[in-house]
Amino acid sequence: MRLPESQVAVLNAASATDERTIAQLAEATDQKPETVTGAVFDLRDEGLVSVAETTAESVELTDEGVEYADEGLPEVRLYRAALDAGDGDAVPMGQVIGASSLGGPQVDIALSNFARKGYGHIDSGELAPDADADPDADEEAAALAALAAGESVDGDVLDQLESRNLVVRHERTIRAVTLTDEGVTALMEGVEAAETVDRLTPELLTSGEWEDVEFTEYNVEADAPEARGGKKHILRQTADRVKDVLTGMGFAEMEGPHADADFWINDCLFMPQDHPARTHWDRFALDVPPMEDIPEDLIDRVRDAHLNGVGEDGDGYHSPWSEDFARAIALRGHTTSLSMRYLSGHEVGELEPPQRYFSVEKVYRNDTLDPTHLLEFYQIEGWVMAEDLSVRDLMGTFEEFYSHFGITDIQFKPHYNPYTEPSFELFGRHPETGELIEIGNSGMFREEVLRPLGVECDVMAWGLALERLLMLMYGFDDIRDVHGTLCDLDLLRETEVLK
Ligand code: PHE
Repeated sequence: MRLPESQVAVLNAASATDERTIAQLAEATDQKPETVTGAVFDLRDEGLVSVAETTAESVELTDEGVEYADEGLPEVRLYRAALDAGDGDAVPMGQVIGASSLGGPQVDIALSNFARKGYGHIDSGELAPDADADPDADEEAAALAALAAGESVDGDVLDQLESRNLVVRHERTIRAVTLTDEGVTALMEGVEAAETVDRLTPELLTSGEWEDVEFTEYNVEADAPEARGGKKHILRQTADRVKDVLTGMGFAEMEGPHADADFWINDCLFMPQDHPARTHWDRFALDVPPMEDIPEDLIDRVRDAHLNGVGEDGDGYHSPWSEDFARAIALRGHTTSLSMRYLSGHEVGELEPPQRYFSVEKVYRNDTLDPTHLLEFYQIEGWVMAEDLSVRDLMGTFEEFYSHFGITDIQFKPHYNPYTEPSFELFGRHPETGELIEIGNSGMFREEVLRPLGVECDVMAWGLALERLLMLMYGFDDIRDVHGTLCDLDLLRETEVLK
């Protein structure tokens, strides 16, 4: 039998009676463990060896664990300092802490474990050490010392050390190899090393040698170490996919400033200037000069809509309207500011119906951070301008859009926006919790919005939350799993965004 060299070496080093681990075989054959693992899998597929797999746990001290193994646990140091300082009597806390030379976060760690582990009591600012406590019998200290000395430790104390972040545990697979009867027979009949070539080189090609050599077979099913290269964040990947889907549905992309005049963010949308969302509580105002570049005639028409309304039966808010406030700059709380810029003709010139536009961009809100709210998130903004649009067009567009992401049970709830009538909130069902979650807001722009912009036909529009779409697609239920310091790295690494 002819086999590649690495396999012959492993076969010769393996035994029919004693299990050999990959590490032992690597040492015996003077090959890398990865090479041996590959060879072992190939030999197993040929039936020449059998492989038994077990998992073993290894425990490693963290930096903090190493420090305590050297210097003692903070609570033990505190106990000893308290005994020294008071000869067994209660001592003022500040005095003990000073004497213990514990600093920074270690003081809190010492105090909380001191009481928990029965080293004494803390009462009205005094530490009373318990004379019967025995730091030499401290299980955690003993376990730390054993681990530092390379001994193994098990039992509940490991869980305790892990919860204190003093150790980390790793699991690894140990493979033990033995020769099968077929393997023994093959060895007795004689196994020769076939020279195999694992890659084609220019030399092999030019010399013509490639015709005679034997190529190594690749075992594409063998376990391989996991390679973690950089990858696009799933939010960005999903945003790209949303852009592809909308472009496929005939939409063009809008662009525009993150920090914009309140005029574009709110006034064009017929949002009264005293609306609660426009107070300094909700808005991220910026201390920069006001925006100059806004068409004067548009400002006049928008002011008039706010004061007097639009059309014969229309009515305005009859509350003061300040041009200075309209020109002041803030971070946009929605990307509907972009829709206003485009619909007004300010961005790409006057638009004739039909038109479809979208953006997938960041917005900023002074909300309270919780599992479903962030201070900044991505909005999928969009609008369609055409003659005679109805709510059915709006609903149909959403159904088509979400079906591209496998979401087919969108629900609609009537809603109120100062700028749309009628308005609808969209809901989708969370795949894990079964709860209905709000995924967007939409409606038909009112006359009070469209006429000042110079738009004569119908416009239906929406703002959808990209992060909520992600929640429906991948089933996580805390938005902080994908954003920020608490994010779930496994989720980000393992989630595949399908094209
Ligand atoms: N601006 C709305 C929001 O942020 C979304 C929306 C856009 C609603 C356009 C209707 C029309 O919730």
